[in-house]
Amino acid sequence: MTQLNITHVVVFSLTAVFLLVALDRAGELRGPQAAYVPPAKPAPAADIDPDKGKPPLHNDTVEDLPDGKGREITFYTCTACHGVALIKAQGLTRDLWDSSIDLMIEKHRMPPAKPADRAEILDYLAEQFPPRRRGRGGDNPFLK
Ligand code: HEC
Repeated sequence: MTQLNITHVVVFSLTAVFLLVALDRAGELRGPQAAYVPPAKPAPAADIDPDKGKPPLHNDTVEDLPDGKGREITFYTCTACHGVALIKAQGLTRDLWDSSIDLMIEKHRMPPAKPADRAEILDYLAEQFPPRRRGRGGDNPFLK
């Protein structure tokens, strides 16, 4: 009867380990590998909405502007970038409202409105938000 001593155990175990490592490296122990899937392409630029997830600029509706002819066109032309508060805070002459529209176009890149629309907006702004008299003191030059 062969005597099983520690040397046999060590030699046998090492042989087994080498064998397993060799088989593993040869790919024999691994199942079929999943086919290579290229990473998803980034979405085309048109699908990227820079405002996605951002809170809305304002929650104003047409009714937040005083009723009058030109209210709708003014609302939809002028609230793409800010609420009505900025507009209502101003009291300007017709000329200054006209320059305000130019300012929106030139400085803030507002798309220019059609001439007929622009005239209607200007009429509305000039009528609804004219220059206001200052409070107590009226035209007191020392309060300017
Ligand atoms: C393309 C974007 C855009 C559109 C459309 C636009 N505005 Fe503006 N507007 C701005 C920006 C930007 C400001 C800067 C103020 C801010 O948002 O802090 C501003 C400011 C203003 C102010 C305040 C100016 C001041 O000196 O305090 C008024 C009044 C105003 N807009 C009126 C209008 C009117 C009237 C229209 C429509 C004819 C209009 N805006 C359309 C971008 C726009």
